[in-house]
Amino acid sequence: MSSQIDHLLNESRRFAPPEEFAASAIATAELYDRAKADREGFWAEQARELLHWHKPFTEVLDWSNPPFAKWFADGELNVAYNCLDRHVEAGNGDRVALLWEGEPGDERRVTYAELTDEVKRLANVLTGLGVGQGDRVAIYMPAIPEAIAAMLAVVRIGAVHSVVFGGFSADSLRARLDDAAAKVVITADGGYRKGKVSPLKPAVDLALADRNGSGPQETVENVIVVRRGGNDIDWVEGRDIWWHDVVSQAPAEHEARPFPAENPLFILYTSGTTGKPKGILHTTGGYLTQSAFTNKVVHDVHPEDDVFWCTADIGWVTGHSYVTYGPLANGATQVLYEGTPDTPHPGRWWEIVEKYGVTILYTAPTAIRSFMKIGRKVPKRFDLSSLRLLGSVGEPINPEAWMWYRKIIGGKAAPIVDTWWQTETGAIMISALPGVTETKPGAAQVALPGVSVDVVDEDGTHVGNGNGGLLVITEPWPSMLRGIWGDPDRFVETYWKKFEKQGFYFAGDGARLDDDGEVWLMGRVDDVMNVSGHRLSTTEIESALVANEAVAEAAVVGASDETTGQAVVAFVIIKESYLAEHAPEGLANTLRLWVGEQIGPIARPRDVYIVGELPKTRSGKIMRRLLRDVAEGREVGDTTTLADTAVMSVISAQLK
Ligand code: WTA
Repeated sequence: MSSQIDHLLNESRRFAPPEEFAASAIATAELYDRAKADREGFWAEQARELLHWHKPFTEVLDWSNPPFAKWFADGELNVAYNCLDRHVEAGNGDRVALLWEGEPGDERRVTYAELTDEVKRLANVLTGLGVGQGDRVAIYMPAIPEAIAAMLAVVRIGAVHSVVFGGFSADSLRARLDDAAAKVVITADGGYRKGKVSPLKPAVDLALADRNGSGPQETVENVIVVRRGGNDIDWVEGRDIWWHDVVSQAPAEHEARPFPAENPLFILYTSGTTGKPKGILHTTGGYLTQSAFTNKVVHDVHPEDDVFWCTADIGWVTGHSYVTYGPLANGATQVLYEGTPDTPHPGRWWEIVEKYGVTILYTAPTAIRSFMKIGRKVPKRFDLSSLRLLGSVGEPINPEAWMWYRKIIGGKAAPIVDTWWQTETGAIMISALPGVTETKPGAAQVALPGVSVDVVDEDGTHVGNGNGGLLVITEPWPSMLRGIWGDPDRFVETYWKKFEKQGFYFAGDGARLDDDGEVWLMGRVDDVMNVSGHRLSTTEIESALVANEAVAEAAVVGASDETTGQAVVAFVIIKESYLAEHAPEGLANTLRLWVGEQIGPIARPRDVYIVGELPKTRSGKIMRRLLRDVAEGREVGDTTTLADTAVMSVISAQLK
């Protein structure tokens, strides 16, 4: 991290918005003035302009019981109607909503009319299964059009979805199904990844089964299965239903009923600083307003002309806000790609950009860095001249990657927006406005109009330009999380306790203000790691490790990694009783794979080090900072607060 900081401090390149871009940009500098003059009025204006309200709201923000906010509370709307029907009614039913590309190269163009039809039918199916307002439906699917249809059908009937990333294990899925008490799971037999079918339905079967003495999962009544992979699957009569059997048979008519703006929309689980993932809860009116607004002004989406491509999976918040909700609310045309970037060849993404004439690309620094590694020759083989705007999200983008992105992918012309936000914020919070803001490689830069952030010290005092501190959000915003599912205390404790006096939301990120007062993100300051833009908690992986019969104790740190940003590095102590009966050979690798099975392949440690002891303070807290030094090959820092000051030299010596 420190080398990164030195680098950032020397970064002085600036890029003015290209004239041609600025001439047709949706964002204007005036947005800042309007929002500054009347923040709530500004958001009300966006909500009215961007969305259709069945019943208009008269209240904007209710902040009488902080931190529990209500936005547009007496208004009523239907999210699916906003994303689908109204575009068809406006005469745009033939516009392509999804340019879908399967990994094997199959393709489907789904128009707004077709997507609306599918969603209406599935909404009827769900109602027929007894799903109603407020019920939870889990979605565990590959990136296929049905996944988006599933999300929209659930919210169309006022129910709540919980999308679980397809890379999560059966155990992780089970924990999420239990926590949300999901009634239905929508899945697929499998999807294509890395050139072969990666099964999904078997993980659902396992998650619902009686395993490890857990008893059978109790709340799920039905499993709807899309046929995609064609792989053999088991079938539970009465519980399992083929999508293609029921959806085509279902009535085509379905009226989108309005629901209050604070009706829950979705729960999305994300890692926090404890072992148990948090179910972040979002509601409808405010969330849809800000996701649509940011997709419009930050991604500069002109629905008639643009082909937008956000490469995120719908299992993450980026896929919620910038695949499903923002772009569809705006009536945009977008690419949806099922597979991995390098299958069947390393130029797959660039081939897709060329094929569909993608104009706006929104992706993660980790992807850019892995393309950098392969080299410019690959993208250079494709015509990328359609690209006119590039976006980055998920982790700090280092200036080298930013410059490569600009030069090799953007042809030195396309502006780059580095967008900071979180699952909890629901939509983009800090970003340049393309066509307006002069951009700086490596900086997220400025809060959006209507958003107020600051960088403060431990006491909540503004640090001033040129200084570093903690990133906070100082005023409520429309797409803010409304809570943690089933745990209001944890919500208050995690985000609002630290700066209770000031009423600030604490984001968990470190940041600096440069001499212009613009924001540079410095990574997490808590025990959350960011691996390839995916959040993982150290504690969650430690719990998985100690659940293995061989492990007595474990400590996990995020070490900087050239490609993935951070990588998971684990230090484990093996039980003596285990070593008495088993040979230690291969154990480190077994434990790596074990974590992958327990949580999912993204959590698999890059390195597992077997050690005799762990560095702890006198009160028994593991000093991760010191382990990070070892994992990153640095000289070990100050060890004076350790209970046993010799332990670090023992560990370092063992690993040499
Ligand atoms: C990090 C993803 C620097 C940050 C949308 C945040 C970023 C966490 C950026 C949220 C960025 C996201 N620059 N860091 N542009 N965007 N982050 O919930 O640490 O998966 O707290 O949401 O990612 O991750 P999450």
